[in-house]
Amino acid sequence: MDQAHLPDSILIVDFGSQVTQLIARRVREAGVYSEIAPYTMAEEAFARMKPKGVILSGSPASVPDEGSPRAPAALFEAGIPILGICYGQQVMTQQLGGEVRPGHETGEGGEFGRAYLTVTEPCALFDGLWEVGERHQVWMSHGDKVTQFAPGFDIVATSDGAPVAVIADEARRFYGIQFHPEVVHTPDGAKLIANFTRHVCGLAGDWTMAEFRATKIAEIRAQVGDGKVICGLSGGVDSAVAAVLIHEAIGEQLTCVFVDHGLMRQGEAEQVVSLFKGSYNIPLVHRDVEELFLSGLAGVTDPEAKRKLIGKTFIDVFEEEAKAIGGADFLAQGTLYPDVIESVSFTGGPSVTIKSHHNVGGLPERMNMQLVEPLRELFKDEVRELGRELGLPEAFVGRHPFPGPGLAIRIPGEVTKERCDILRKADAIYLEEIRNAGLYDAIWQAFAVLLPVKTVGVMGDARTYDNVCGLRAVTSTDGMTADVYPFDAGFLTNVATRIVNEVRGINRVVYDYTSKPPGTIEWE
Ligand code: XMP
Repeated sequence: MDQAHLPDSILIVDFGSQVTQLIARRVREAGVYSEIAPYTMAEEAFARMKPKGVILSGSPASVPDEGSPRAPAALFEAGIPILGICYGQQVMTQQLGGEVRPGHETGEGGEFGRAYLTVTEPCALFDGLWEVGERHQVWMSHGDKVTQFAPGFDIVATSDGAPVAVIADEARRFYGIQFHPEVVHTPDGAKLIANFTRHVCGLAGDWTMAEFRATKIAEIRAQVGDGKVICGLSGGVDSAVAAVLIHEAIGEQLTCVFVDHGLMRQGEAEQVVSLFKGSYNIPLVHRDVEELFLSGLAGVTDPEAKRKLIGKTFIDVFEEEAKAIGGADFLAQGTLYPDVIESVSFTGGPSVTIKSHHNVGGLPERMNMQLVEPLRELFKDEVRELGRELGLPEAFVGRHPFPGPGLAIRIPGEVTKERCDILRKADAIYLEEIRNAGLYDAIWQAFAVLLPVKTVGVMGDARTYDNVCGLRAVTSTDGMTADVYPFDAGFLTNVATRIVNEVRGINRVVYDYTSKPPGTIEWE
């Protein structure tokens, strides 16, 4: 990172908790830039970022276990504030001379879920928020506990299951909390984290997307030098925001390739081309390769086979284009934080392949390119905010996520042009009605699916024998889990009527009532 653009920041040391990413989010919501580093790389990140404070995350590990992770000792000697959360509290206690014992030894078991703690002493973390004697709801998830706090610390709050619920060493500005302030089930959690960044670390909380933009532009320039960058556009928000940002940084050194596989939604290809060429004047290679993709997909019905074929064909086309511009040194991708954390997580990333997500993986090795991923630290809604900051139109920025393999994974069974066309029409009606009802932004993702079954119907006194269309709409924060969107019956009836009346080839509409898990958001 260009040293001149280093923002005031908080370093989050990740010990592999499922919710570490939420800590980063809360810190940024407090207007402070933060980065997460796995504990193995924390010392390096600390030296590079020169943070104004450190947060130690939770972990599935157990401090008393041999070989369990430790924070770099240098962090405790740097003279900056430290907040240890759950395992972070325990590891700090252990490293600074206290004692942590496993739940099975204390005989008290753990504390999971909602708990109440009582404030026993004033503490900078509680400033303006919690008073001595008050009881507050928090969310706990721990088996081990601190049985003897380290020299210099005092207990400032306690709970039935964790007598050492919150400890503070105000002189060194070290704080340890057993509960999780980063999750929404701790109602005052975000405010406690903001108290740490503002009152304890002294940060103004004025970090903005405009600053992020400037930081990233400097970083991209430093990384790329005078090299050539190629960026695949999927039609989605992430790759578009990455491309516009990189273009701002390095201009003509960037070439964007839009691989139009014929599996886009209605009007999508036109929108992307007009946005890039019209509004931004960004060099864009538009490859219309519908025929190539559809002929490859002919006869393919297995979902994984479809995904793999689409991924491979995409890479072939992309590689051709990279060669056509005389080779590229860097590949730009709109990778987001939730994608990153899976690969660096202490717990080792996903163990089972539920579905092979399509991206341009495989290309960097094949073509010896380095990756440029300027959105790696952001969540989806933060990417949208950056998109707005870069001036992307609201209609584009606010779009629902759309998967790389496009409509192919919304057409169970064989994918043909005819079936894509039918689905595009139904999907457009569904989304139009959602927009008209003012529901678009309340829904994470909504789409139609074309089922590989035909059913009998009656229209105008005649028998029909046509396709079934499934409708899906979910709410989610990150796509990892999802709830069904509860449309009212009148809305669904109206959409179903319009689809059956206006789309030839569909005579029945069903609504998908499955949450994730056990379902996935897409049908394949
Ligand atoms: P699932 O179906 O796994 O989807 O519950 C979770 C989120 O990921 C999107 N998705 C993809 N995005 N390439 C992508 O870029 C893919 O191959 C892919 N498969 C699913 C899906 O639309 C949802 O938002």
